[in-house]
Amino acid sequence: MVSEPGADMAAADRFKSGRLIFLLLGLFAAGGACAAPDAARRAELIRMVRNDCGSCHGLQLTGGLGLPLTPEALREKPDDSLVATILYGRPDTPMPPWQAFLSEAEAGWIVAKLKQGFPDVSPH
Ligand code: HEC
Repeated sequence: MVSEPGADMAAADRFKSGRLIFLLLGLFAAGGACAAPDAARRAELIRMVRNDCGSCHGLQLTGGLGLPLTPEALREKPDDSLVATILYGRPDTPMPPWQAFLSEAEAGWIVAKLKQGFPDVSPH
C-alpha cells in the first residue's frame, strides 16, 4: 500500500485529538463535580469528618475549638452558607478551607449528614 506522507500525518493528528477528547470526557466523568459521592467515597468522607474535622469540632462533633456540628446546632443555619464555610473556611478564624479536598457536592453531602446526625466510621 502506497500512502502519501501528508495523509499519514493528518491521520495521526486526528488520532491525537480524538484521544484528547476522550481524556477530557474521562476527566469530567471521573471528577463528577455534580455527582453525589459513591459508597467508597462516603466511607472516606465519614473518616475525614470524624478525624480531621473532629480534631477541632470535637470527636463527638459537639464542639471544641470549633463550633458544635450537631443537628441541634445546625438546624437553623442555611445549607449553602454551611457548604461555603466548609469549602472556603472562615477568614480570621481557625476554620480552614477544604476545597482542595472536597467537591461542592461532597461538602453538601457532609452538611446533610451533619444535620441528620453524622454517621460513625463503620468498623469494616
Ligand atoms: C483547625 C480547626 C478546624 C478544623 C480542622 C475544622 N474546623 Fe470547622 N470551624 C472551626 C472554627 C474555629 C469554626 C468557627 C468559625 C467562627 O468563629 O465562625 C468552624 C466552623 C465550622 C462550620 C460553621 C458552623 C456554624 O455553626 O456556623 C462548619 C459547618 C464547619 N466548621 C465544618 C467543618 C468541617 C466539615 C470540617 C472538616 C472537613 C472542619 N470544619 C474542620 C475550626 C475548624
